[in-house]
Amino acid sequence: MAVYLITGIAGFIGSSLARAVLAQGDQVRGIDNFSTGKRENLAEILPRIDFREADLLNLDALQGACRGVDYIFHEAAIPSVPKSVLDPLGSNRANVDGTVNLLVAARDAKVRRIVYAASSSAYGDTPTLPKHEGMVPNPISPYAVAKLTGEYYMTSFYRCYGLETVSLRYFNIFGPRQDPTSPYSGVLAKFITNMLNGEQPTIFGDGTQSRDFTYIDNAVDANLLAMKAPASQVAGQIFNVATGKRADLNQAFQLLKKIIGYPGEVKYGPTRSGDVKHSLADLSRVENHLGYIPKVDFEEGLRRTVEWYRGQFKAAEA
Ligand code: UD1
Repeated sequence: MAVYLITGIAGFIGSSLARAVLAQGDQVRGIDNFSTGKRENLAEILPRIDFREADLLNLDALQGACRGVDYIFHEAAIPSVPKSVLDPLGSNRANVDGTVNLLVAARDAKVRRIVYAASSSAYGDTPTLPKHEGMVPNPISPYAVAKLTGEYYMTSFYRCYGLETVSLRYFNIFGPRQDPTSPYSGVLAKFITNMLNGEQPTIFGDGTQSRDFTYIDNAVDANLLAMKAPASQVAGQIFNVATGKRADLNQAFQLLKKIIGYPGEVKYGPTRSGDVKHSLADLSRVENHLGYIPKVDFEEGLRRTVEWYRGQFKAAEA
């Protein structure tokens, strides 16, 4: 039985990975500082994991957390473009300093591999679509710069110390347990909960901006594959994690309107600073090196996500 450390385990993606690792019969240790994660996300798995409340800026805590660990999924972050525009120092501390601390602790504990939650925001507004990993990055927001810096550190720790690292550039991951309540929440979590509550969602801009929206189960698959692939195929490298298709926000709203049966319309507000216009992934590299193929498409992912939030609302009413 291997020991996995998951940083940001109380977050949306970390808590999904924890369930997947437990399901394959391995041992899970997790850290979170609850800056964006929630204890509820761990609910029924809490008794089965070794959970430690800790901040990535606490190197001692990380050294303790890495002891005896084989593999790390590094999901902890302050994952917001607009928040980083307001607070670039906070974004840098959590996303860059925290990542370097973890790498140092992982190196010293002789961890076998670390898979890092990188971001497609690294591509920025490069006009070429789809985005492939060989393109020169062009980050816009401080968040994008911080996430890209994390990738460089991953590759550096592989080159300098032989610590196996893999960076996965997530493209707009959505699904159950994504927090809809913060002003910085992902657009689909916000839209779905607005519409289920009979409230009107807001599109920032004209709604023609598009994203390669990726259902969580696809991201979990990619992470498990990245952890298992031979080092010669993945170590020190960067891969897109997406579906290879995109939808604009107007289309996403129309699909949700149909799935939810929402009678209202969307309203439009000012464009958000730091926003990227279009995002779409080329998947050839991740397919070739990891054998990753997205299994759940956008519409099916939306259905499952709506179903989950509906269940939450019913549970809260009961
Ligand atoms: C998202 C992720 C980020 C990830 C990046 C790349 C979130 C919160 N952020 O950033 O961690 O690294 O993808 O995959 O998941 N919008 C509205 N109305 C709203 C909220 C947002 O119109 O109420 C718009 C935004 O202006 C933007 C689009 O929806 O154009 C997507 O926004 P968001 O969900 O915040 O994601 P990204 O900024 O793309």
